[in-house]
Amino acid sequence: FPTHITKVCCIGAGYVGGPTCAVIADRCPHIKVTIVDISVERIRLWNEGPLPIYEPGLEEVVGRCRGRNLFFTTDVTRAIEEAELIFVSVNTPTKTSGLGAGMAADLKYIEAATRMIVDASTSNKIIVEKSTVPCRTAQSILTILENNCRPNVCFQVLSNPEFLAEGTAIADLQAPDRILIGGMNSPAGKDAQEALVKIYSNWVPRKRIITTNLWSSELSKLAANAMLAQRISSVNALSALCEATGADIDEVATAVGWDTRIGPNFLKAGVGFGGSCFHKDILNLVYLCESLNLPEVAHYWKQVVDLNEYQKTRFVRKIISNLFHTVSNKRIAILGFAFKKNTGDTRETPALTVVDCLLAEDAQLSIYDPVVSHEQMLEDISSLRRPNGTSNITLNTDVYEACKEADALVVCTEWDQFKTLDYKRIYQSMRKPAFIFDGRLILDPIELRQIGFSVEIIGKSQ
Ligand code: NAD
Ligand code: UGA
Repeated sequence: FPTHITKVCCIGAGYVGGPTCAVIADRCPHIKVTIVDISVERIRLWNEGPLPIYEPGLEEVVGRCRGRNLFFTTDVTRAIEEAELIFVSVNTPTKTSGLGAGMAADLKYIEAATRMIVDASTSNKIIVEKSTVPCRTAQSILTILENNCRPNVCFQVLSNPEFLAEGTAIADLQAPDRILIGGMNSPAGKDAQEALVKIYSNWVPRKRIITTNLWSSELSKLAANAMLAQRISSVNALSALCEATGADIDEVATAVGWDTRIGPNFLKAGVGFGGSCFHKDILNLVYLCESLNLPEVAHYWKQVVDLNEYQKTRFVRKIISNLFHTVSNKRIAILGFAFKKNTGDTRETPALTVVDCLLAEDAQLSIYDPVVSHEQMLEDISSLRRPNGTSNITLNTDVYEACKEADALVVCTEWDQFKTLDYKRIYQSMRKPAFIFDGRLILDPIELRQIGFSVEIIGKSQ
């Protein structure tokens, strides 16, 4: 097996493949990195701009390497053929029909990429599973490869899950908490692991690179996401209790987080978690547990998702009950549509649930987000298939315009910009009584109440 890697290919130029391999190219100028995708449009944007994803710091990294040792192409066959190591970074969405619909991961893109690799390979290669997959997927990949390969061509499969978070992807990739590399427990498996360790060692301290067996690595990714989401559901469950008792969720989270065994991070209450992965990966884990006849374990993790759904609808109920139990024809400004700040990604965004529930109550919504495109918002809202379509929606490029004549403002994303708006000006332009519902706990209720707003914040009763 090639142990000294000079050419890397990445299949999938998305949120993970693009930034991950751009950073590899940046930190390893001696390695040629080629990122391929079946989407002609995505590759065109990577080459010509604007980049297909919004991620702070990404443009600089791509600008330094593109055309030097970083290439984007749709010529999949050639890129596979010349690479010694191939990352598979394709999407693994939840299945929408058939067995496990709504729960299991759809592995059709993984299988298609695997077959593309084996068809194009004329020399030995290391295949790196970067996508998040159910435990033991590496075995399926290896079986497909071994049953279709040319004579004298061998493969090793590694699992190297990605832990980056959107919005901080470049910083996460440049200084990761850890790199996890799972491999076969054989001499060839160890060699393959070592080859990938060597790549990361160009910028990651050796002690942060963990090597394990394949199944531990695959399961660790699902476990990490499940435990991260579990923290959010825990703090969100407590936020309901805070509202009922007069405790303050920020104070509780801080007090609890000072315990070094718990730690302060990832304890921010809010409208519920979104993003492309938490929801899908937990359901993937739940399905895995069910298939392995572990119903109690499945039930335990399912609660994390159920609580998240509860939190989103609880927030909407709070809005409606405060607005005198009717929002029919009321104008409500939705501040923020991305699933978190510093990204233009709207996958599983809690804002869409809020929009859906308010449209069902006949509200008129004006929406503002500093990064998400209007096309994306319209596409997401159209997917709700509401009888009135998008006719009750106004999309704004100016936040003050969005708030004008509104009965209420609803903060759905914690964009920094929302912390420093001229709320006096906004208050004056709104209908009275003017309400603010802070779903991200970023605003100062005392200041806003002094202006005249009625303020409702998740996890705080005053
Ligand atoms: P994405 O949808 O942004 O990108 C996937 C890309 O793969 C798409 O551009 C698609 O066209 C391409 N693709 C699919 N099949 C292909 C094929 N056969 N050949 C070439 N290209 C193909 O998805 P993403 O957000 O980058 O996620 C990729 C994987 O990484 C998923 O398994 C996800 O769970 C995991 N992950 C995502 C994140 C994140 O923050 N988005 C973080 C960690 C892990
Ligand atoms: C998450 C994980 O953090 C990454 O480690 C993982 O690689 C990634 O999923 C993945 O597998 O896709 P991401 O979804 O990009 O990353 O963003 P997070 O920062 O984790 O936020 C997820 C959601 O939780 C957001 O809606 C965010 O607003 C919410 N959140 C986060 C809270 O409500 N409270 C918190 O304290 C933290």
